[in-house]
This record gives sequence, structure tokens and C-alpha cells, in this order.
Amino acid sequence: MPVHFAFLTDTHHYPDAPEDFGAPKMLTRSQEVLDAIPPALNTQAFDFVVHGGDFLCGGGSFNLPTETYLRSLDEAAKAFDQIQAPFYSIPGNHDCDAQNWSYKDYAARFPYPEPLTIVDAAPRLRLALANVFHDCDVLEQSGGIWTDALDQALRSAAEEALSDGCALLLFLHTWVLTDFDRDRGVVEGADKLRRTLSDNPSLVAAFTGHRHINRITPYRDYLIVDTACLIGFPLGYREIILSEDGYFTTRFHTLDLPQLNQDSYDRSTLEENRIWQGHVHDRDTEILLPRLKEVWG
Ligand SMILES: [Fe+2]
Ligand SMILES: [Fe+2]
Repeated sequence: MPVHFAFLTDTHHYPDAPEDFGAPKMLTRSQEVLDAIPPALNTQAFDFVVHGGDFLCGGGSFNLPTETYLRSLDEAAKAFDQIQAPFYSIPGNHDCDAQNWSYKDYAARFPYPEPLTIVDAAPRLRLALANVFHDCDVLEQSGGIWTDALDQALRSAAEEALSDGCALLLFLHTWVLTDFDRDRGVVEGADKLRRTLSDNPSLVAAFTGHRHINRITPYRDYLIVDTACLIGFPLGYREIILSEDGYFTTRFHTLDLPQLNQDSYDRSTLEENRIWQGHVHDRDTEILLPRLKEVWG
């Protein structure tokens, strides 16, 4: 049986936001977006759904008052409780309180891996849910850290997955690979993480959010899947199918909020919008994953 799941990220809820903040975000309309997410996901009967972090607008940039932060946490948690499929998530840099930089209240409502949680999400498929903020001063380092503790936990989970005949998907908030904008948004210690990914054939793909950009990069014999935000253009989530013959298929689904999406689009230049949404194969593509074929073969 193929595995069919959804990945969404960076939904950035901000109740009664005073402004939209930097494009493509549409924070003044975050409730509208939040309301549209569960019904959209529930129509597709996914095996499971994963959120890549930045549910909220805590941390840096927004200076959210604690009272609003607590309200946003409550409202976001209630919205995501409506998703019918098993729901997994990791924290983002904007999920801590903006006044004391603590994840304590977030951890009371959402999973907070210390630092890595492994779940059996489908037959012969495990998820490694990584918290790159578990031992990091988010104020100083919004990209998080790939710590030795994370690295060792992932290496042993990958070895165990291989001996059990399971494929492993890694989820972390920030990027694994640089782009033309140097190291912006890349997790500190990414070189160590890439070595671990290279060394472990059960690890077939890594999923990230944070930069609000769609990008799919086959790297060596695994895949890095970066996904745009769900609070502005291109305003969507990924549907992913992993087939028994080793194929990864993804389709990008835009929420049915055309005016909101257009209003977000109008805040950026053509070139900027092309970067947010990526080219066609960063949204919709089919790629053979040799490691998946081998592990599931
Ligand atoms: Fe974000
Ligand atoms: Fe982020």
C-alpha cells in the first residue's frame, strides 16, 4: 500500500494582528487561514499530517504580548485538533513566547521533542521529528542548532529503522541546504546533519519550512523538501505519496481563499513571488528515491 500524507508549515497565527508584517505573510487574516486548513485537509483522508513549525508569531520580529501569545496558542491548538488524521508537529522559532523566549506554554499544548521523537506513522515508515531549538537561545539563533544529542539520536534511530526494514523521514523546522542567500535560515551544524543523512540509507528524505519557499532538491541519494508558508502566497500545503516501487510524488494544494492569496501575491514583485512558490517541479513532481526502493524492495 502506498503511504499518503500531507505536510504543511508556517501557519503563523496572530489574533487581531495590527498589520500583515513582511510579505508574503497576511497576519491580519490569520484566523481566516486557520479556519480553512482543517476542512481542506479532512477532505483528503490522509494517513497522517505533519506541521513543520511556526504555528505562532512568538519569538523575534513581532514582539507579541504574552496575553496574545497565550490566546494564539489556544486558538491554533483548537484548530489543529480538528484534523481527523493522526497529526504530528515540530516547534519553529516563532513558537516561543516573545517576552521570555520560553517554550513552556507551547509544550503544554503541542508536542515538544526532547530533542527527537520517533513515530511509527505507517507500515514500514517512521518519522523522526526533530526539535532544533531544544538547546538553543532562540533570541540569538533563530535558525536553531543541529546538536550532538540530535545527531546521535537520529543516527541510532536510522540504524534501528534499517534493521527493521523501515524507511525514515526527517522533519526539522530550518533548512539543511544553503541557497543563493548564503546560510540564511540554515540550521547551525547542517554539515554534521548532512553527513548523518549521507551515512544512513534508511533516511530517504528531510522536510523543512522556515524560509517560506518551495524547493525540492535531490542531494546525493536522498531528497530535501522545503515548503512555503501557509499564511500567504502561495498559500498551500503538500500532498505526498510514497509508493512501494520507491517513487516520491508530491502535489501542492492552494487553500480555497483566492482573494487572500491574490492580496498576498500583490505585496511582492514577480521575481519574489516566483521564489516563494518555486518552479513547477518544486511544487508538483515525481522522483525515484533509490533508498526507499531499496528499503521497501
Ligand atoms: Fe515562518
Ligand atoms: Fe521559522
